[in-house]
Amino acid sequence: NLGVITIPVVVTVVYSNSQENISDAQINSQISILNSDFRATNSDKNSVPSEFASLVADSEVQFTLSQVRRYSNSKSSWGTNDEVKLVYPPVTPANTLNIWVCNIGGGILGYAQFPGGPASTDGVVIGPQYFGNTGYVAAPFDKGRTATHEVGHYLNLRHIWGDGRCNQDDFVADTPSSDAPNYGCPSYPTANCRSNDMTMNYMDYTNDECMYMFSEGQKSRLRTVFASGGPRAAMAN
Ligand code: ARG
Ligand code: ZN
Ligand code: CA
Repeated sequence: NLGVITIPVVVTVVYSNSQENISDAQINSQISILNSDFRATNSDKNSVPSEFASLVADSEVQFTLSQVRRYSNSKSSWGTNDEVKLVYPPVTPANTLNIWVCNIGGGILGYAQFPGGPASTDGVVIGPQYFGNTGYVAAPFDKGRTATHEVGHYLNLRHIWGDGRCNQDDFVADTPSSDAPNYGCPSYPTANCRSNDMTMNYMDYTNDECMYMFSEGQKSRLRTVFASGGPRAAMAN
C-alpha cells in the first residue's frame, strides 16, 4: 500500500490574448477541483445513484501547485499534435504533472498522454475556458472536470465505453460496459449493453456538473502506475 500520493503540478499558460492569460485564482480553482475529485471530497458525489454508491472511490492521489509559467505566443490554435509541449518543454515530467493551458481549437476541451509514452510530451493540455471553475470559463464545461478526465487518462484510465461498442473493455470490472459516450446530462437509469451506464463517471463524456465519481476499480487501475516498476513509480516517493 503506497498511501496517499502527492503529485506536484506545473501549469504552463500559453496565451494569444489577455483572456487566455488566465488568473492565478482560476489556476488555483482547478487544483482544488482535482484534489476534491481524486480524494472524493466533492459534494456532488451525493448524487451518485444507490446502484453505484458503494463504488465511489477516494483514489488517494492529490495535487500541489509547484509552479506557474506564462508565455505570450501569437499562435491562437494549437491543435492536438503536441506542438505546445515541444515549444515549452515539460518540467521534470518523471515526478511532475505538467499541464499546458492553451487554446486547442476545433471544439476540443483537452487531451492527454497515457503513461509510458515519451517524457518530452508527458502531461495534459486543456483549453483556458475549460480549466477551473472561475474566471474565463464556459458552461457546460466550467466545473473543472476536463482536467479530472484528462488526468484520469494520464494515470491510465480509459473511457468507460472502452472506445468501442458493448464488448470493448475499459479494463475496469466495476464500470458497466457501455455502447458509446454519453453526452449532456443523462437521467438515471440510462441503459446500454444490458446494464445501466455509469454516466456520472469522470471518464464518460457528460457535462461537467453531471460527472462526479471514479470507481474502486478505476482507483486500483490508476494506482498500479505508481507501483514499483510502473511507469509513474517515481511519483510515489
Ligand atoms: N474530449 C476530451 C477527451 O476525450 C475531454 C472530455 C471532457 N469532458 C468534460 N465534461 N469536461 O479527452
Ligand atoms: Zn477522454
Ligand atoms: Ca468496465
